[in-house]
Amino acid sequence: MPEQIRENFAPAREAQDRFALVTGASSGIGACFARALAARGMNLALAARSRSKLEGIKAEIAAKYSLRVEVIEQDLSAPGAAEQLHSDLKARDIVVDLLVNNAGFGAHGEFWRLPIARQAEMLRLNIVALTELTYLLLPVMIAQRRGSIINVSSTASFQPIPYSSVYAATKAYVTSFSMGLAEEVSAYGVKVLALCPGGTATNFFEAGKFDKISFPGGLQSPEAVVEAGLRALDRGRTLAVTRFINRVMLFMQRLVPRCLVARQAGAMFRPRGMANR
Ligand SMILES: NC(=O)c1ccc[n+]([C@@H]2O[C@H](COP(=O)([O-])OP(=O)(O)OC[C@H]3O[C@@H](n4cnc5c(N)ncnc54)[C@H](OP(=O)(O)O)[C@@H]3O)[C@@H](O)[C@H]2O)c1
Repeated sequence: MPEQIRENFAPAREAQDRFALVTGASSGIGACFARALAARGMNLALAARSRSKLEGIKAEIAAKYSLRVEVIEQDLSAPGAAEQLHSDLKARDIVVDLLVNNAGFGAHGEFWRLPIARQAEMLRLNIVALTELTYLLLPVMIAQRRGSIINVSSTASFQPIPYSSVYAATKAYVTSFSMGLAEEVSAYGVKVLALCPGGTATNFFEAGKFDKISFPGGLQSPEAVVEAGLRALDRGRTLAVTRFINRVMLFMQRLVPRCLVARQAGAMFRPRGMANR
């Protein structure tokens, strides 16, 4: 057994001691994960930058269930953030049984016009923090021969998306990394799921300053995304694309050359006011 795993080894704990860490729990899909996991009887560590919103969700859960809910204010795009969050969890004596790597954002516009600092921040949050948190929390799951990781990816991970090129590439990383890792760790009893929602009704589009984009079938509710994700995890799936219409679209695009798929995505995401070329 590698030294790091031995060091972190913890004996099997009672079900009532089990914790889920949800990143980006202050709104949207992450907040819905927090509520759904509380309903399943899990204690929660909720991380994001907005302490007051996290405290609000904690109060809402505390009014309904007798669970431990810990709020951790953390900017996960900051260098060393995952390490800091990991230390914070240790200091609070929290062993994570389910990691929901959900925090993330997008940006809409031409790559060369969008601030590079914002796009680098996206790389650090959507890719680096997710990878480092997984790396830091996995050894205990392996030692316990039990644990689960849900990485919130996107249907954006399956094709290039002009005018959200960096965002789509970060999600391609998340889906590929998660599915590869799922195969690596299944022998240790650890489950990894790449959860791929399509357009979902959250703060995502406002945060990323997206122009209005029409998704076939409209936006899905974050509650439905979470329900689909937890169902897929229960069934031991490694990939879950939410919604029938999204699965049909992804199947159809496999039949079309990739350059045409990118062009079609470009037509859908072209910023308003930009001339057609
Ligand atoms: N909505 C969609 O259409 C859609 C579709 C597919 C996939 N997704 C993915 O779903 C995930 C959740 O997004 P959402 O749709 O629920 O959007 P959202 O409502 O904007 O939620 C984003 C969450 O991430 C947190 N966050 C942002 N920057 C952070 C940072 N630097 N450090 C820590 N936390 C940070 C936000 O909290 P604070 O601002 O408080 O930090 C918030 O809790 C993202 O990974 C997104 O890419 C969304």
